[in-house]
Amino acid sequence: MGACGTVISEGDLQQQMEYIERVRALLESGGAKKPTAFVDTYGCQQNEADSERIRGMLRQMGYDFTTEEEAADVIVINTCAVRAHAEQRVLGNVGALTHTKRNNPKQIICLCGCMMQESHMAEKIRTSFRHVDIVFGPHALWRFPELLHQKLTKGGRMFETAPSDGAIAEGLPVLRNKPPKAGVIIMQGCNNFCSYCIVPHVRGREHSRMPDQIIKEVEGLVQSGYRDIMLLGQNVNSYGKDLALSIDFSDLLRQLNAIEGDFILRFMTSHPKDASPRLFQTMAECEKVENHLHLPFQAGNDRVLRDMNRGYTREAYLELVRQAKQRIPDLVLTSDVIVGFPGETTEEFEDTLLVLKEVEFDALFTFIYSPREGTPASRKEDPMPKAQKQVNFQRLLDLQNEISARKHQAYVGRTLRVLVDGESGEETYHLSARTTGGRLVHLSGSRNLIGTFVTAKITSASTWALFGEIEETQR
Ligand code: SAH
Ligand code: SF4
Ligand code: F3S
Repeated sequence: MGACGTVISEGDLQQQMEYIERVRALLESGGAKKPTAFVDTYGCQQNEADSERIRGMLRQMGYDFTTEEEAADVIVINTCAVRAHAEQRVLGNVGALTHTKRNNPKQIICLCGCMMQESHMAEKIRTSFRHVDIVFGPHALWRFPELLHQKLTKGGRMFETAPSDGAIAEGLPVLRNKPPKAGVIIMQGCNNFCSYCIVPHVRGREHSRMPDQIIKEVEGLVQSGYRDIMLLGQNVNSYGKDLALSIDFSDLLRQLNAIEGDFILRFMTSHPKDASPRLFQTMAECEKVENHLHLPFQAGNDRVLRDMNRGYTREAYLELVRQAKQRIPDLVLTSDVIVGFPGETTEEFEDTLLVLKEVEFDALFTFIYSPREGTPASRKEDPMPKAQKQVNFQRLLDLQNEISARKHQAYVGRTLRVLVDGESGEETYHLSARTTGGRLVHLSGSRNLIGTFVTAKITSASTWALFGEIEETQR
């Protein structure tokens, strides 16, 4: 059993498909009632995509899905390790499952995802969360059918959390949400080892999928009515570097842009050290690639950036942004920032505020530094009191909110083409839509418009969203 190169072999995958059939036969022989599964996902869109595979495998094994933990025959919790807060939420919820299992002792509880790839966490589950039956990290996701089959036939507890560089598993069954949005993994893992980050430790090295597999998947999605395709990877700009082909991310974008149909292409995340004017030119020239760039800068001070091992300076970042703005009309720019990296002084933090003022991001994802066991940053002295980090964090939020509100206000009066992608939960504006730059727009109109492009006039704006009226529908 194992990986052939960076791709799981067809033979190994075929074996898992056989386990799916065996579980199916076992469940069918078990009784009249269809078994049910509950799948819960934490973390990023990569994890969401993994959960779509877990659901796909479960459905093929014959499971229906439920939103009630108590009723489920199988519970799968797909976890995230990026910050302590995410981990605490998972542990709290898994702890609460002791009650559901007491009422339903046959229930099978599975924990998977990034947290399970941390050895101290797997150990904690082994010793202190004894009601958990199956534990596996992202590297063993494709072996879920085999693990479940073993549990159903032999019982006992199973742990598949050995360290690994990872490998691509093509062709697993997938159960997605309804159109119009679909995430497509183009590469997995990360080679960057930013000093604060756990992702490369739990997700392994960068592995790109073959372009023909990605193209085939996107073609299929467009034919099935998906309109908003999000290409996923921790650092999409290094796509292709590990392949024996001469292809980079810009080439891939051009090939996907050539697929026929009315859809948009987005991607996440771009690392500034690998983003290039060539990418911006490609974005500008490809009509289906939306004018949105998520370009995390993390910190505005060069000493801090060096300590974070980010591989660029503030000036290099600002120059990149200038180039992007110059080439991409109407660019929407978003970013991630960490406040309170170990050793960052308030004066150094103020350089982050300067970047906000100069760039004027449309939106920002902001985090207070969270030490991750095993990362170099977690071993550094961290003298700044929590209260001071909070004060700095609030200054960052206040400044960004003011900028976001101002940028949103500038949309009022404009008429834009937007994709209606769901319901908003609001009373008057019950539809939600996205501009081509990914800004959220609330609209009123019929549910039937979900999944279509409409032309909308923006009538008002808040810090978080735009509000508009539909002028023209396209169906
Ligand atoms: N690969 C992406 C980021 C993935 S993690 C990239 O490099 O852009 C998403 C965000 O979480 C990061 O951009 C960073 O801002 C934040 N993050 C990661 N590790 C963190 C930590 N230990 N503490 C606080 N924030 C962290
Ligand atoms: Fe983490 Fe850095 Fe890799 Fe992003 S690029 S996943 S922040 S190590
Ligand atoms: Fe979390 Fe793993 Fe994504 S740590 S952010 S779920 S890659």
